[in-house]
Amino acid sequence: MKSKILAMLRDADGYLSGQELSARLGVSRAAVWKAVEKLRREGYTIQSAPNRGYCLAQATKKLCREEILAHLPENFPWQESLLCMDSVDSTNTRLKALAAQGAPHGTVMVADQQTGGRGRRGRGFASPSGMGVYLSVLLRPSCPPDKLMHLTCAVAEAMCQAVEHASGLRPGIKWTNDLVTGGKKLSGILTELSLEAESGTVDYAVVGIGVNCCQSLSDFPEEIQEIATSLKLATGREIDRNALAAAMISALYTMDDTLLTHQAEMLDAYRRDCVTLGREVVLLRGAERRYGTALSVDEAGALVVEFADGSREAVNSGEVSVRGMYGYA
Ligand code: BTN
Repeated sequence: MKSKILAMLRDADGYLSGQELSARLGVSRAAVWKAVEKLRREGYTIQSAPNRGYCLAQATKKLCREEILAHLPENFPWQESLLCMDSVDSTNTRLKALAAQGAPHGTVMVADQQTGGRGRRGRGFASPSGMGVYLSVLLRPSCPPDKLMHLTCAVAEAMCQAVEHASGLRPGIKWTNDLVTGGKKLSGILTELSLEAESGTVDYAVVGIGVNCCQSLSDFPEEIQEIATSLKLATGREIDRNALAAAMISALYTMDDTLLTHQAEMLDAYRRDCVTLGREVVLLRGAERRYGTALSVDEAGALVVEFADGSREAVNSGEVSVRGMYGYA
């Protein structure tokens, strides 16, 4: 009933009387009032005026399923399996557990807060409440893992589009999968694959993305204040996290739809957004440090680096630091 009232208020151009709401829903006016109070407690600004009724002045700023769906097309194919949580340890961890129980392709989990947000290389990902969008999607592409080498690039490119759609800011991509702006990190992506032992095919992939939205500088832990940024800091505006989450889900859907058919076009777009190309980089592998220049991204998404001795290597793994970013001078 709460959702129905919300939908009616959203559709109404201005005020809707309590009488009309109660008649259309077949409930008492007291029940309507109760539901409106509930919506207000969830953060919706609903004005009421004598003889006029109720008017939805502002949607809630809390991340919630209802608001995310309101920003997606009706009958969006992944809508049934969209899960929105207040607080979880990690959306990737949770989705992997659901995958093991048979959750379908296209299951998406969004959280307002992660108490154990995970980054690459065993690092954490700071995920405080009210600040970011922490989102994972479960994909079950039926193909061998070598056909998915470009998956992380495809996700990064999709997230560039989503962030631009929701905020007007087009981030760059620091190879392979950090979104950056002004030399600082805006977003990180963690891709995890599970293989079927016998067939060697992919059982599932869980792709998790964290975007810093609403942080001021002091909201970041001190040790990352120099290297992290948020959409609020970068644009000077408040960003609607529900609209951003919807843009991310929509971009992921399109990415998934074209993953195996439009690889070349995707990589061309990726190369245009990749801020690593042409820059001096240092490749860190264990204790080894190799300096070179990032030349290109190959058709599998690997970074082609030319080293000081003129040799070239397509780098797939290891940490690449880019000169002029994240404090690397
Ligand atoms: C990185 O920067 O190294 C990757 C960060 C990935 C963070 C996202 S937030 C949603 C999903 N759940 C996690 O625990 N991690 C990813």
